[in-house]
Amino acid sequence: MEILSSYSKGEPSPASGRMFTHSYETGDLILRSLARNVFDLFMDKTMLDFTIYPSILLLEREVVGIVASLMGGDENTTGSFTYGGTESIILAVKAARDKFRSSNPGVIPEIIIPYTGHPAFIKASRYLGLKPVLAKVNFDTMKVDIDNVSELITKNTAIIVGSAPNYPYGSIDDIKGLSELALDYNIWLHVDACLGGFTLPFLRDLGEEIPEFTFKLEGVSSISVDLHKYGYAPKGSSIILYRDRSLRRYQIFTYAGWPGYPLVNTTILSTRSAGPLAASWAILKYLGYNGYMNMTRKILKAKRDIIRDLNNLGLKIIGKPEASIVAFAAEDTNISVVSLELKNGGGVYSSIQGLSI
Ligand SMILES: Cc1ncc(COP(=O)(O)O)c(C=O)c1O
Repeated sequence: MEILSSYSKGEPSPASGRMFTHSYETGDLILRSLARNVFDLFMDKTMLDFTIYPSILLLEREVVGIVASLMGGDENTTGSFTYGGTESIILAVKAARDKFRSSNPGVIPEIIIPYTGHPAFIKASRYLGLKPVLAKVNFDTMKVDIDNVSELITKNTAIIVGSAPNYPYGSIDDIKGLSELALDYNIWLHVDACLGGFTLPFLRDLGEEIPEFTFKLEGVSSISVDLHKYGYAPKGSSIILYRDRSLRRYQIFTYAGWPGYPLVNTTILSTRSAGPLAASWAILKYLGYNGYMNMTRKILKAKRDIIRDLNNLGLKIIGKPEASIVAFAAEDTNISVVSLELKNGGGVYSSIQGLSI
C-alpha cells in the first residue's frame, strides 16, 4: 500500500469534482459505494462463459434494453456490453465492413468520418483495413458539412459516421441529414453517442432543443453509448447497439475447430471481469429516470453558468454548445494564460488538453 501511494502521489482524485475531463463524478456517495460493492460481487466472474454465469446474460440484456429504449430503439434493437467507446466503435466498423464485403468482395471499403469525429474511427480503420475519408465541418456550427459528405460518397463507401456530440466542440452533427444520405445510397450510418447517449435524451426532456439522432431516424444502423461517461458507471462500460440482429451478427466471432472449448465471443475481448457490467446495471437501477434527470439538470445549470462567465470575460464560445461540452477560444488573450490561471484557481490540470476548470 505504501508503494501504491508513493506511485500515485500528487495525482488528482477522480472524485474531486474539479477535473476538466476523464472523470464523470456525481458526488453521490451512495452511488459510489453501491458501484464498488456490486463490482466486487462480480469481479471474479468472467464474461467469457455465460453458460456458467447466466446472470451475465440477464444483466447484459437488461442494460442493453434500457440503453436501446433511450436511443429510440424498438423490439428489434439489439446490442452488446463492451469495455469502452473504442471497443463499441471498432465493433460497429467491423460489422459494417463485413456486411459491405458480403456484397462487394475484393474492394477496400471507405469510411467517411467528420474531421471532428473521435480517433477511435481512425484506429478502427487501421485495424480493419478501411480507408478513412475525412469530411469537412462548418466553422460556424462545428457540425459536419453534409454537402461535403455527399461529395465524398463513392461506390466503395461502407460506412458514414456522425457524432452526437463530438468531443472537441460538443456540436451534434446533422444526423437527420446523414440518415437521408445513408438511405439514398444504402450505406451504414453509425452514430457516436458515446458522450451524448446519457445526456441528450434528458436535456431534451428538460426542454432543450436537441435534434433527433437516434434509431427514430430510419437510416441509423448502429449507435455507441458509453456508460462510463455520463452513465456514471465504472471505467470499462459501454454499449454498442444495432438496428436489428441482421446487422449485429457481423460482429460475432465463433470457433469450434480446436480441441478446447467452443469459443463464442460477441465482443472483441474474451475473458473479462463482469464487474463493470454488474455495476452498470446497479447504477442504472439506482439512478433511474429521475436520477439521470437530476444529474442532467445540474450539468445544464453548470453549462449556462460557464457560458455566462466566459461571455463576461470576453472569451469566445466556439460553435453552439448543444450538449454538455463548452469549447471556447480567446481572441485578445493568450489562451495558455487562461489555462494557467484556471489551474492556479484550483482546477486539475489535464496533461492531454492542458486546460482545466
Ligand atoms: C465522442 C467520443 N467517442 C468515443 C470516445 C472513445 O471512448 P473510450 O475512451 O471509452 O474508448 C470518446 C472518448 O472521449 C468520445 O468522447
